[in-house]
Amino acid sequence: MAATARALVAPGKGILAADESGGTIKRRFDSINATSTEENRRDYRELLFRTSGVAQYISGVILFDETIRQNGADGNPLVQVLVDQGIIPGIKVDNGTQPLPGASTELITNGLDGLADRLKEYASLGARFTKWRGVINISQSIPTRYCIDTNAHALARFAALSQEAGLVPIVEPEVLMDGDHSVDRCFEVNEATLREVFYQLAQHGVALEGCLLKPSMVLSGSSAAKRAGPEEVAEKTIACFMRVVPAAVPGIVFLSGGQTDDEATANLNAINKRAAAAGAPWQLSFSFGRGLQQAPLKAWGGKSENVDLAKQAFYHRAKLTSAARQGSYSPEMEKELSPA
Ligand code: 13P
Repeated sequence: MAATARALVAPGKGILAADESGGTIKRRFDSINATSTEENRRDYRELLFRTSGVAQYISGVILFDETIRQNGADGNPLVQVLVDQGIIPGIKVDNGTQPLPGASTELITNGLDGLADRLKEYASLGARFTKWRGVINISQSIPTRYCIDTNAHALARFAALSQEAGLVPIVEPEVLMDGDHSVDRCFEVNEATLREVFYQLAQHGVALEGCLLKPSMVLSGSSAAKRAGPEEVAEKTIACFMRVVPAAVPGIVFLSGGQTDDEATANLNAINKRAAAAGAPWQLSFSFGRGLQQAPLKAWGGKSENVDLAKQAFYHRAKLTSAARQGSYSPEMEKELSPA
């Protein structure tokens, strides 16, 4: 597991999150006026997985339950398409969120019941890593201690079960960027959340060497009047993580979380520059959903004649995100679209 975790954050590489649930992928398809049929979902994801050369930037892909069981247009399992490219298949194993009982607006993630059996099946289908997303919302009165504790506990239970099944857990406590909070408030919530997550991981006997952390960057709220730029985001993100993330964790793979793709890329780049200066002990990479898919989804537009354009857009985004992951991205690179 430690070797797989390290391979997922190999220099220059990061993860594509393509594990949108039925409701989420429908919303993404609605935005390009495409219908969310099983075949369309297959065609779209298959074009991403078949983008030639992208494996130099993408180490692994997180799949949704439907996709790990799906065959490509030629009848080959999509998992095999990834493996043939040299990309490691992974799987989202949580069942989404529901209101946290007894709390007014907070959420808890479902999916622990029966998880051990599902993990065995996913391993037999070729998955080598797993992901579970806990959601922490920010307002003046939340998150509550209760919300942080219950979500951290569920994340740790998931991580322990995954390792028992020989799968590398990606532990994702997402601090949402919705709201008008300051970057300092985001720092405080991330710090409290991560502190509890690592306490619970230790309580559950999780081997940190065989897991990855998928957090949010320390950002201003999306509707804040004055939003922090990349330098401040990087400074605060690294300061926060140096405080609470143990050095045994091989890598931190950020989610993009509703930032535009160029914003997420510029922030990741600044974070890597800052990390090098601060002597941060972990690989700082990406596990982007929207940050990698906005451009190819738009280029595809649900039309088979646009598959090559969509592949080019995905390749380009993966290349830029990989550069950012090494601190060598510049906004001028946004203008060059390299052929796939
Ligand atoms: P975003 O990068 O679009 O936030 O998605 C990553 C993810 O997997 C959220 O669970």
